[in-house]
Amino acid sequence: MAVEGFLNRDVISTKDFSREELDLILNTAKDVEDNAGKYRNTLTDKRVALLFLEPSTRTYGSFEASAVNLGCKILSNRNPAVTSISKGETLHDTIKMIESYDTDCIVLRDRRLGSSRFAAEVSELPVINGGSGSREHPTQAMLDLYTVLKERGAIDGVKIGFVGDLRYGRTCPSLSYALAGYDDVEISFVAPPILQVRREVEIFLKQRGVTYTKLTELRGAMANLDVLYVTRIQKERFPDPTDYERVKGSYVVDNSVLALGKKELGVMHPLPRVDELSPEVDRTNHAWYFSQAANGIPVRTTILSLVLGG
Ligand code: CP
Repeated sequence: MAVEGFLNRDVISTKDFSREELDLILNTAKDVEDNAGKYRNTLTDKRVALLFLEPSTRTYGSFEASAVNLGCKILSNRNPAVTSISKGETLHDTIKMIESYDTDCIVLRDRRLGSSRFAAEVSELPVINGGSGSREHPTQAMLDLYTVLKERGAIDGVKIGFVGDLRYGRTCPSLSYALAGYDDVEISFVAPPILQVRREVEIFLKQRGVTYTKLTELRGAMANLDVLYVTRIQKERFPDPTDYERVKGSYVVDNSVLALGKKELGVMHPLPRVDELSPEVDRTNHAWYFSQAANGIPVRTTILSLVLGG
């Protein structure tokens, strides 16, 4: 896979990326991390629009910091209440406006289904999905892969358990699609029945021959795992609030749960966390989640650099 293949490319779904392409991103991210100075101010003529129509700390912050490191100018729009979206302007028209401001790339976070794919179709510019409703979060999955590689030494052969909200969370589908390109991966999906992994994810994994199981009980799954990927129950995405009341607090990962796992088990979480991951885990060697979040910088610097031709 040549670097040129990324120039002006949309980043919408991890399904659109081969293993070879993902490996190129991970290898470049390692170089970004090891040789940050080589990349600094290499894109001073580029303008990056950060259009964040849903709250974000990590994705917004790490794209902003990455763009700053690369020397890009930033056009920031992260409060829909102060834009004409609040007057009823469509996503189509918003994207067309941003496009007309000499922008080179748009990073979009939006709660609506298919919004990033739609934006990529209506825009001449490359669009990077910074989190699209409950469907996908591809750059999160790329930094998740980077974290597994860095902490474990290999992605092939990983036994990973996703726990929590696998229906409305967007990180589980994106990482599952990405892992399907690697060898001998085994996935356990642990969730209450109404939050189990969506059918489309299962179909994709079956087509790719990935081994997976669906469980409701976490403790019994722990001994087999190399990585436990904890997710927040996405209260804001439930169509029926009574369903949320039924499943909130279903799983709490604390040291008593981790005692059932391997000594070298890594705990990941895309963050933010609420009550599903106890702060006592922060003080253990299992806690990978803060360095996972920090990996957003080399990985998103890589993505911007590849897409913008740095
Ligand atoms: N992991 C993640 O997407 O975090 P933010 O919502 O803070 O961007």
